[in-house]
Amino acid sequence: MTVRAAAKVNLHLGVGAPRPDGFHPLDTVYQAVSLYDDVRVRPAGSWSLDLTAAAHVAATDVPLDGRNIVTRAADLLGVEAEVSIHKEIPAAGGMAGGSADAAAALVALDRLHDLQTSDARLLELAAELGSDVPFALVGGTARGTGRGEQVAPVDDAGSWWWVVVPSGTGLSTPEVYARFDALRPDAAAEPASPDRLLAALASGEPAALAAALRNDLEPAALDLRPELRDVLEAGEAAGALRGLVSGSGPTCVFLCSDGPGAREVAVALRSAYDVVLTAHGPVAGAHVMTEAG
Ligand code: C5P
Repeated sequence: MTVRAAAKVNLHLGVGAPRPDGFHPLDTVYQAVSLYDDVRVRPAGSWSLDLTAAAHVAATDVPLDGRNIVTRAADLLGVEAEVSIHKEIPAAGGMAGGSADAAAALVALDRLHDLQTSDARLLELAAELGSDVPFALVGGTARGTGRGEQVAPVDDAGSWWWVVVPSGTGLSTPEVYARFDALRPDAAAEPASPDRLLAALASGEPAALAAALRNDLEPAALDLRPELRDVLEAGEAAGALRGLVSGSGPTCVFLCSDGPGAREVAVALRSAYDVVLTAHGPVAGAHVMTEAG
């Protein structure tokens, strides 16, 4: 059984002041885009986990022990299996690669063991594993509130094209949030609402979406990695409508006018950056690819 789950981009990421539990209240709009991790599970009497990755994925820091989010997913379901992850989503990149693996593992292990877990329970387990794991289950385009784990689909009239420039070295999400706190001691308790972004999505117009993109974590990611400013400028100079740090970074994503536009921007960026990918969204959440092992 193989289950596939997609990367995400935050089209709007409004971040409020930290709550008493340390998490930040979010009002975000996620879009699932066509970069995928696959999780394959086979019946086994004991637990094993291995990982392969596309050449562009720096996955050497992904732990394979009990700290791995897939192992934690299996622990929550109380099942064993032989599990292989294949990664195409940049690791520690702000595109929720670990969350995609967790969502795919929940679906795969539930089906493998015929647990018949309800969708509502799967969403609860996903939220225990991480703030963006519920979105990785549902995919498409969705608004996330709470700490990002409460997801509801939104109206999206477009098919959007992205160019994706990962970094060789990841950024730690808690570190980026800590830098946000240092830079924004005055942050409002309530995160900024995505009204403008939602209107742009419903219009289906790339120029409107470009103007409405917003990521409150971007200044923190740029403070930790000033060279990302050059990446953003290079993509916009190459013809992208708008460049944005994805989530907590350091991956940079560029909204383009259409598919040919994205290919043109990607070709231009490849002269300066080793890894340049194209993707479109929205795409589906975690779904079964093959029933056979
Ligand atoms: O939920 P997740 O495990 O993905 O979060 C990783 C870390 O990111 C948290 O430990 C926290 O430091 C930070 N975070 C946050 N506010 C959120 C989501 C994540 O501060 N809404």
